[in-house]
Amino acid sequence: MAKTTLHTLLKMKQTGEKFSCLTSYDATQAHMVSSQGTHVILVGDSLGMVVQGRDSTVPVTMEDMVYHTRCVSRGNTDAMIMSDIPFMACATSEQTYTNAAALMQAGAEIIKLEGGRWLCETVRGLSERGVPTCLHLGLTPQSVSMLSGYKVQGRDEESATRMIEDARLLAEAGANILLLECVPTALAQEIARSVSIPVIGIGAGPDTDGQILVVYDMLGMTYGHRPRFVKDFMAETATPAEAVAKFIADVKSGTFPAPEHGFS
Ligand code: KIV
Repeated sequence: MAKTTLHTLLKMKQTGEKFSCLTSYDATQAHMVSSQGTHVILVGDSLGMVVQGRDSTVPVTMEDMVYHTRCVSRGNTDAMIMSDIPFMACATSEQTYTNAAALMQAGAEIIKLEGGRWLCETVRGLSERGVPTCLHLGLTPQSVSMLSGYKVQGRDEESATRMIEDARLLAEAGANILLLECVPTALAQEIARSVSIPVIGIGAGPDTDGQILVVYDMLGMTYGHRPRFVKDFMAETATPAEAVAKFIADVKSGTFPAPEHGFS
């Protein structure tokens, strides 16, 4: 497979071809998912929960993110590597520039930030300095205390309108990708149609341009509560590599996510 770049994802959005994304935290996972043709690997701060066994992503540090980004970049073949800026590591633009530099030097090709319009100035500054960004909207796990738990976001008209505006403002500021987590299917469809940049979904229905899952979840290794949007691809396949290949094929054909994986 050819190396995935921002241009690849933009072209796929324009032609309506769905792309696939999975998390990875080490070299073996990264090699397995990328060699099957996954377009984007996210070194997610979900590692705090699925690797470190913590209750949330809040304790994850920049040191953790740099370490796991290095591990993933050694195993990756052709996927684009996206790394999370962890909790409170993008509180100011200056702090974000320093932390983005550390992740890019560890092997990330795009950084992911959780938050809405308050990040516009930082996104513009990063873009001017050559750092691509993905902005995570909807259920933003780093704000779990403020959100009073892991709940679907954008269900009422006011919060849905705010999310649509956030998406537009961030795209105008120079964001390269949006990621929507746990938002109603109709709202995700509206956001994906209203911006020209690629939109990735998790628990956001079938109409986003790409889909992402945590690699352990799609391999049937969910630890604790299994979210509604998760599908165990190992239930239908014999090996982890086959499960990843099936995920990619199902995303491409539109078979995944099915209606039962989304929120109305
Ligand atoms: O950290 C992570 O793995 C994520 C995905 C669940 C989208 O943000």
